[in-house]
Amino acid sequence: MTIVDIHTHVYPPAYMDLLRSRDTVPYVRTFPPSTEERLIILPGEDSSNSSTARGRPIGPEYYDFSYKIAFMDQHKIDISVVSLANPWLDFLPPSEAAETAMLINDDMDASCGLYPGRLYAFGTLPLSASVEEITEEIRRLKGMPWIRGVVMGTSGLGNGLDDERLNPVYEALEETGQTMFLHPHYGLPTEVYGPRASEYGHVLPLALGFPLETTIAVARLILSGVFDKYPGLTLLLAHSGGTLPFLAGRLESVIAHDAHLKDTNTAPKRSIWDVLSKNLILDAVVYSSVGLKAAVDVAGADRVLFGTDHPFFPPLEGEEDQPWLSVTTNYKAINDSFGLERGIAEGVLGDNAVRLLNLGFGRQSTGCGL
Ligand code: URA
Ligand code: ZN
Repeated sequence: MTIVDIHTHVYPPAYMDLLRSRDTVPYVRTFPPSTEERLIILPGEDSSNSSTARGRPIGPEYYDFSYKIAFMDQHKIDISVVSLANPWLDFLPPSEAAETAMLINDDMDASCGLYPGRLYAFGTLPLSASVEEITEEIRRLKGMPWIRGVVMGTSGLGNGLDDERLNPVYEALEETGQTMFLHPHYGLPTEVYGPRASEYGHVLPLALGFPLETTIAVARLILSGVFDKYPGLTLLLAHSGGTLPFLAGRLESVIAHDAHLKDTNTAPKRSIWDVLSKNLILDAVVYSSVGLKAAVDVAGADRVLFGTDHPFFPPLEGEEDQPWLSVTTNYKAINDSFGLERGIAEGVLGDNAVRLLNLGFGRQSTGCGL
């Protein structure tokens, strides 16, 4: 059995330098008298007065690849497909984006090469640059030994993923056979969390804002007809597609009842179920058997992939040496759902990722305790 983590992040050293050089979100800095560095990335995090609500502590587990390997060993993970964490390069001035993307992607690929067969990566796109520069980087990534696709947020070129200006990007991804890992960052407008939001830490934006952001982004992509136009495009959706597995039927039904779509003949041609089973891959970062079974129901048992979201969601103080709850919960959901169907469990744990992302074979695992 090979265990593969396809949802695991890193801020390579070149990106850390960038964050340390900034004083507006996103940035990294210390808040004296503490000497601990903190990472401030989410919209609204900057305005909080409470130090525990101001971002999160950031240490070498975010940027040192040897910590990634140690985490993998601790949790019996054979292979990780790492991705730059949010907010990627979304905030860069257009003139700096292409060069920075090349620097970060070269850094990622070379770092994976230090651990042959254990680390692969999703590259990062210079989305504030010109479309020509973005597609050039997609084609360059295709030639890199350890890169298997790209990670992207939901903002696209600034107007979301249903922006027709992104068509050359989708075309280049389809043509080069690279998977787009879609990951949230912006959440929902902060007003929806209400005036007491700061009392609830990061719970509402991370537990609900993130998955809803992904759900809306994918719904817009489907509605825009992108999957009719690019039937070979593959997206890996973070957090099991947000709420898409649960709401796919409703989305399909509302489309079927929409007079405007009918009158204008603009309804997507392919059904959502067809897109889910051919173009979308869902991660298994959903922390419960209910969500995991829904993901497998809609995408197919061969299109759901284990992930951890490391180094986010570390153990809280006092539990640092324990296996991470955020990891064991996802292992347990797989065991609870498919413990008696080894083929499905092994597919979700790693075989699906090896096949879909062409990872070759990592060293044999001693198992995850399933
Ligand atoms: N918080 C983030 O900002 N990103 C993640 O990937 C997970 C939690
Ligand atoms: Zn993540």
